[in-house]
Amino acid sequence: MKKIAIACDHGGFELKKDIIKHIEAKGYEVCDFGCDSAASVDYPDYALPASLAVAKGECDLGILICGTGIGMSLCANKVKGIRAACCSDTFSVRMTRLHNDANVLCLGARVVGIGLAIDMVDLFLDTGFEGDRHSTRIAKVMAIENL
Ligand code: RB5
Repeated sequence: MKKIAIACDHGGFELKKDIIKHIEAKGYEVCDFGCDSAASVDYPDYALPASLAVAKGECDLGILICGTGIGMSLCANKVKGIRAACCSDTFSVRMTRLHNDANVLCLGARVVGIGLAIDMVDLFLDTGFEGDRHSTRIAKVMAIENL
């Protein structure tokens, strides 16, 4: 079973609790990198360790939650090996797994409700990379970080 890195800031704390409960019930192992309350924190402090866990292969996929998902995605995409997608619809989540092989999903707890967030998490965890022509494109994307 896949191991999932998860982290949030204060804006994503409540949604993170619901997502952890949901994915643990599905049998996933969860590595929670904080934060641990709704007290104000800085999202880079939580995005970085969770993203590194995915980049190093300690976790298979990551889920990062802040108010918009945007701050988390900015941080995650600075970590070598991370392809983070900030999504607020299920079509984008499906396509970012199929075509971009995204390994981190960023969610905005102030953008989406719990029902949509859970549907997006399920799709993210259940959808595989299509490969083929997309492998060539992803190799080119990842080569950019070496420039
Ligand atoms: C925190 O107020 C908010 O800025 C943060 O959760 C996130 O939305 C940043 O991108």
